Amino acid sequence: MSVSQSAIRLVNHLGRDHLRQALEHDVRAGLTSTPKWLPPKWFYDEAGSELFSRITRLPEYYPTRRELAILRREALDIAVRSGADTLVELGSGTSEKTVLLLDALSATGRLRAYTPVDVDAATLGEAAHRLASRYRGLTVRAICADFEAHLSLLPRTGRRMVAFLGGTVGNLTPAAREVFLKELRATLRPGDTFLLGADLVKDTGRLIAAYDDVSGVTAAFNRNVLHVINRELDADFEPDAFEHVALYDARNEWIEMRLRASRAMGVRIGDLGLRVSFADGEETRTEISAKFRPEGLRRELVAAGFGMIRQYVDPTGDFVLALAHP
Ligand code: AVJ
Repeated sequence: MSVSQSAIRLVNHLGRDHLRQALEHDVRAGLTSTPKWLPPKWFYDEAGSELFSRITRLPEYYPTRRELAILRREALDIAVRSGADTLVELGSGTSEKTVLLLDALSATGRLRAYTPVDVDAATLGEAAHRLASRYRGLTVRAICADFEAHLSLLPRTGRRMVAFLGGTVGNLTPAAREVFLKELRATLRPGDTFLLGADLVKDTGRLIAAYDDVSGVTAAFNRNVLHVINRELDADFEPDAFEHVALYDARNEWIEMRLRASRAMGVRIGDLGLRVSFADGEETRTEISAKFRPEGLRRELVAAGFGMIRQYVDPTGDFVLALAHP
């Protein structure tokens, strides 16, 4: 199989300017709020994507393995029920799990196009080339974009299955999730499908361990957002002066990651002309990762205008893939 038999197109919908403006806006808004917060999408520069890859291989971090197990068992069923010839993947990252879906879609004889969408251009480009050389005749249109803000830019042709895997939907607050699901629903046509991966509510100890591994990879991933801000916005954060915090909010059923200042300090963010003070012990929220119940997930999808085709829960009850239609 040679690369020349597949067509690759890399589209940068964001462009450096757009990405930068979004980062500037988020950092200013988040660090001037009380309590402080930073959105999780800024974890994923090249180093952050690599750290996340390492997280997926940690013994404590079960979601990736559980989702893979569901895909190994059910990808063909999903492919057949979807009838899709085009796979659109939101937050595709390294596209490791995607191969199982592409293999299954390819086995149905329909597969024609793959569109990965991710904010990290480097990881996106690498994945696009890897998959284009693996599948003969596959058209790969990689889109560097923020899936929350740019749903309207997704490809309009083909019978599409939009996959949003890994439990990344959990990074959205319930209000943002509602908007996102409704907007996605509005871009789909009859015959299209939506495949959504979601982590399920489970024993609190296992949940926390998954976000606070003993080898400290998640802590490094969490602090990476400060390295990103230092580099991109000429800031002088001392990432090592912040402690990684992972807690489970049982009322909201979500994991929260925070960075706790280990002493009082002032941080200068050069490109924003901003000075931010942190009190000793002050916590900045960097991520929520919501956990779901199959019935609640079904309700949210139905409320957004989807009909459920099937929910695939892995045998351990840890993770679910929901296949829905508009
Ligand atoms: C990529 C968003 C699914 O929430 O579990 C992993 C990110 N954060 N460890 C998750 C993450 C800390 C991950 N998602």
